[in-house]
This record gives sequence, structure tokens and C-alpha cells, in this order.
Amino acid sequence: MGALHMARNVAHYKDLEKELCLARDTLAIRAEAQARALKKHVRFEQLLVSFALDFGQARQKHDLQKLIQEGMCEIAKAGDFDRCVFWEVKNAQTASVFARYDRPCVELEPQPDLAAKEQAAWLYAAADRIGAVERLADGHMRCVTVLLSADHEETGFALQVDYWPGSKKNTLPVTPARMSLFCRVFSNALWRHADMVAIQRMRDEMIRMEHVSRLGQLAGVLAHELNQPLSAILCNAQAAGHWLAQTPSNVGETRSALMDIVENARHASDVIRQTRSMFTQKMPAVQKVSIASCVKNALSLVNNRAALSGVVVEWTVDTSLPPVLGDRVQLRQVLVNLLNNAIDAVCKRPKKLRHIVVSSVADASAHTLQLRVKDSGVGFPTGKENTIFEPFYTTKPNGMGMGLPICRQIVENFGGNIRAHRDTDGGTVFCVTLPLASGPRKSARKK
Ligand SMILES: Nc1ncnc2c1ncn2[C@@H]1O[C@H](COP(=O)(O)OP(=O)(O)OP(=O)(O)O)[C@@H](O)[C@H]1O
Ligand SMILES: [Mg+2]
Repeated sequence: MGALHMARNVAHYKDLEKELCLARDTLAIRAEAQARALKKHVRFEQLLVSFALDFGQARQKHDLQKLIQEGMCEIAKAGDFDRCVFWEVKNAQTASVFARYDRPCVELEPQPDLAAKEQAAWLYAAADRIGAVERLADGHMRCVTVLLSADHEETGFALQVDYWPGSKKNTLPVTPARMSLFCRVFSNALWRHADMVAIQRMRDEMIRMEHVSRLGQLAGVLAHELNQPLSAILCNAQAAGHWLAQTPSNVGETRSALMDIVENARHASDVIRQTRSMFTQKMPAVQKVSIASCVKNALSLVNNRAALSGVVVEWTVDTSLPPVLGDRVQLRQVLVNLLNNAIDAVCKRPKKLRHIVVSSVADASAHTLQLRVKDSGVGFPTGKENTIFEPFYTTKPNGMGMGLPICRQIVENFGGNIRAHRDTDGGTVFCVTLPLASGPRKSARKK
């Protein structure tokens, strides 16, 4: 009885032992599989991080191309893949190989570097899903993942890997979801680069447009400012011819006309030089300028025109006034423009009412000097005090509407301001306020 019982127990323990061994083997196999899977995930993540770091450094497209080519080799090595191809998809119609790895000495179906939609249907079919895995006719497996970007006009990228199933040397998890992460790192680097190139192109275009616009402004200012001295030169040359043709020739008047020509030609060349520097230098160069000599110079340039139009110009600018900050040539341009406008305005009045008065007063406490050009002309309509300074605003048939905007730009460049108001007797007063050279230096601004 006792022996039978023991024999049963022994058999039972043997069965139990067998079961235990089986369970241990199963567990060992599962643990091994788990460890392999973990190793694959770790390897995958290591590769992903190293690609992301490398692409963060690359700036040029050829650097990216090189890195992606190296990436194909690394992925193929880690996954024991026979083929690893990164495709560029254009307009969702054609795909071209951007980088590829083909394991040497492995017979694989040949693949062209450029594939139209019909030739690579497998690639485009994958674009509609997260990716696809299929078995090829020769027994290989193919995993393909596609990323299309709506931002980049239906362009995108695809990653294709061909491998022999069940390879022991494979250290990567081969699923479309995992492969799409590689594809995204490569694609993002290329899209980021394309965006940077586009931004740079736009910046270059903006700089070019700014140059063109400055050139246009420069041409406009020169056309306006050279008109006056050129007209004066022509007028004086004709006058000189007239005095010479007399019998006997009037040498005195001829000489005076020639001197006027010289002065206007000098002014024209000064204007060209100053206008160029106004458009090229960041900050205007300032100097101490005597406003009295500036007024005297400007008057000598418009005197002939005023005299021919029967305009009386008075000036009461004190020569002992302290100097202002500015540029002799540019401030003379301001005055010439204001005086020409005043002559135009008074010419619409009867001859005996054609008066212009230029005066100036210093305000020591404000460290400024105010220059006033007052005329007995027709005035400008009420409410247009600011409009008249806008570019291209003109009420004259042959006007450009450039004189006052140029004056304002010059004066403001030197830290001053210019205003206009109607005089009580109907004419116009222009007040130019400029900083005194002796005062605290106000920062001049460049538009
Ligand atoms: N002294 C003035 N009296 C009355 N209106 C004036 C006077 N000065 C300027 N204006 C008005 O301001 C407008 C703009 O003057 P601005 O000097 O900018 O251009 P413009 O004289 O018309 O042409 P241009 O570009 O040839 O000088 C003039 O057309 C005129 O209507
Ligand atoms: Mg004008």
C-alpha cells in the first residue's frame, strides 16, 4: 500500500517537474524575445536621436544630402536590409531617388532613379495610409512609408526598405510606424532647409526692392533739384549770347551772365553730390552753417527769376546770428525750393503786390533758429497745411509735387522741422526751425 502510494507520488512529481521545465523554457524564450525587441527599440531610438542631432547642425543642402545618404547605409546596416531608398515625391506625380543603399551582390529587382506614378504604384498607394508592408515575388519583404506636405505644394518624401524576412542580424523594429519616424526626421530637415532658402530669397528680394525704390527716389530728387539750376544756366547762356551780339558787345553784362552760369553749375554739382550722400549714408554729416550766407547764396540763384517776374525779395537776416547745424548745400536747396514756390505764388498777383520777405530769429532758450519765408501770394487752401508736404501733391500744371517733401526730409534729417500757415493778409508763411550749433545735439534722423 505504502509502496504504491510512493510510486504515484514519484510519477506526480515527475509530471510537475516536466511542466515546470516547460514553463521555464517558455519563459526563457519569451524573455529572450522581449530582450531582442527591447534591444531593437533602443537601437532604433539611438539611430533616431543621432540623425536628429546631425540634421540640427547641417545648414547646406549638400550637407543634408550627404547625411541622408549616410543615414540610408546606417539604417540598412542596423536592419540588415538589402535595399534602403529615400524618395523625393514631386506634385504627387513623380518620385526621384534622393539617396539610396543597395546591398552589393544581392539580386534584387532593378529600380529606376526616377519613377512616374504608374511605375511606382506601390509607393503612391502607401501615401494614402501610414505606410505599407508587402511580400515581393522573390520572397523579400518591402516596408514603405510616405509623408506628403500640403505646405510644400504636394511634395513629400518616402522611405522604402527591402529585406529578407526573419533575419537574425536585424536590430531594428520594421514597421511602417517606426520607419515613418526616420522618414519624418529626413523630411523635416529638408523642409526646414527649403523654408530657410525661401525666407532668404524673400529677404534678398526685399533688399533689392528697397534699392530700386531708393534709386527711384534719388532720380526723383535729382530731376527736381537740377531743374532750377539747369533752367538758370540756359537762361543766362541765352542772355550772354544776346549781350555779345550787341554792337558794341556788352562785356559787363556778358561777364555777369557767365558768372551766374558758373554759380548755377556749381550748385548743380553740389546738389548731385549731396543728394547721393543723402541716399547712401546712414546718418547725415552735419556742419556749422551760417544761415545768413545760406540765404545770400540761395537768393543769388533765384534773383534772375524773381527780377524777370517783377518780384521784390527783401531779406533781413542778421549776419551775427549764431550758426545752425546742417549742411550748406542742402539748406540752400530748402531755401531755393521755398523761394521758387513763393515766386510761383506771388506771380498770380498783380505786379505791384509781388513781395517776398525772408527773415530769421534765434531762440536761445530753445537752442533753435527760425527761418521764415513769407510771401504775398495767393496762399493755399485752408486745411492743406500738411497735405502740401506730401510727395506728388501739386496744384501747378508743370509741378512735380516734390519741392516741399524734399525740404521736409532735409530739415528733419538735421533734427529740425518745417511748417506752413496762411498769413493774415492772405499770403503764406513757411517756418523752418533748425537746431543751433551751440545747443545740445539732437539726434538727427534718417528716413
Ligand atoms: N508759397 C506757397 N503759396 C501757396 N501754395 C504753395 C506755396 N508753396 C507750396 N504751395 C502749394 O504746395 C504744393 C506743393 O509744393 P511743392 O513745392 O512740393 O511742389 P510744386 O511746387 O507743386 O512742384 P515742384 O515739385 O516742381 O516743386 C504746390 O503745388 C502748391 O499748391
Ligand atoms: Mg515747388
